[in-house]
Amino acid sequence: MTRLLLLLLVLSPFPGCNAGFVTANNDDDLVVPDDDDSGSDDDDATDPADDDDATDPADDDDATDPADDDDATDPADDDDATEPPPTPVRFVALGDTGEGNADQALVATAMETVCAAQGCDFALLLGDNFYDVGVDDVNDPLWQTHFETPYQNLSMPFYPTLGNHDGGAGGTGLDVFAGNVQVAYTTSTTTNWTMPDRYYSHIHENAQFLSLDTSLMFFDGFPIITSLVDDQETWLAGQLAGSTSEWKIAYGPHPYLSNGPHGNAGNYEGLPSFTPYAAGTEIKDFMDTNLCGNVDLYLCGHDHSRQWQVNTCAGTELVVSGGGAKRTDIEGSNPVYWQDTDPDMEGFVWVEILGGTITLEFWNKNAVMEYTGSWSK
Ligand SMILES: [Fe+2]
Repeated sequence: MTRLLLLLLVLSPFPGCNAGFVTANNDDDLVVPDDDDSGSDDDDATDPADDDDATDPADDDDATDPADDDDATDPADDDDATEPPPTPVRFVALGDTGEGNADQALVATAMETVCAAQGCDFALLLGDNFYDVGVDDVNDPLWQTHFETPYQNLSMPFYPTLGNHDGGAGGTGLDVFAGNVQVAYTTSTTTNWTMPDRYYSHIHENAQFLSLDTSLMFFDGFPIITSLVDDQETWLAGQLAGSTSEWKIAYGPHPYLSNGPHGNAGNYEGLPSFTPYAAGTEIKDFMDTNLCGNVDLYLCGHDHSRQWQVNTCAGTELVVSGGGAKRTDIEGSNPVYWQDTDPDMEGFVWVEILGGTITLEFWNKNAVMEYTGSWSK
């Protein structure tokens, strides 16, 4: 890991992020506006804001000061060497897995290798869980061939979202409620499949995860569906407003920006933005209004490749990880930190959140890490 972090420091910083591993909030950091620099010096005896001034009631080093940052007995002490390290949150994210083919199995085996070596608490499934038209019911044999068997050696919860292929109707997703059976499967059997609703939240340590139903957003404007999209909008606003999590990560099947054949929301399939529904205009509007800038990271699939976009949506980092079982080509020209240009290389993303730092690793089906990057709050 040390080698990895050093490599990351060499990589160019990410616009829109606080680059590197230390931040302006870090009391112990020597490379940020310095607490020990004589300009705004925390140790300057003449500095009224001096943290080491024994007479300063705000003195961070005053042993009698209950707010003392250097008080060894202070559980909130930033400099307390005995303070336990943050508990990491580690997960994999992959989409478009529902093929039941050899490449899905290879990606699963690669995840087993990585999870055994680095740890995984859970998986995010980014939609299109069952090609071509979802599952018929909770007893559909596809549950075994496309989910249970491929991931049988990965003992952890899988948190799915619904792709358009999970909504039947030839993969268009127009039979949107067909996906409800995937919610029902959660409680109908003993399984790692964990989908309490069509959209839902789950919290792990200092991170909140928001699973979005973008397949429903696609058809905002249809009778009935409009009110359901409004419901999701209200729910999301409530989740974000009430969140106390340091990190907020959203995921859904459909991209905001992508260099795959589906392309960018609002211009999916190269369609002009006024094209009803198919261009993904409603998805873009929903994200612009409700999500962009309000979460740290949005993970998606739909295009069957792995990409880390340079551009954010109002500060939200954008990652595509739709190579869980098959590939489509890279065609678009959005700038990326990295994308997989090998048209035969499926894979997944492994993520670690450790306190205020998040690290993303892009792994392929041969269990080779092809790119990594990180940022801190
Ligand atoms: Fe797909």
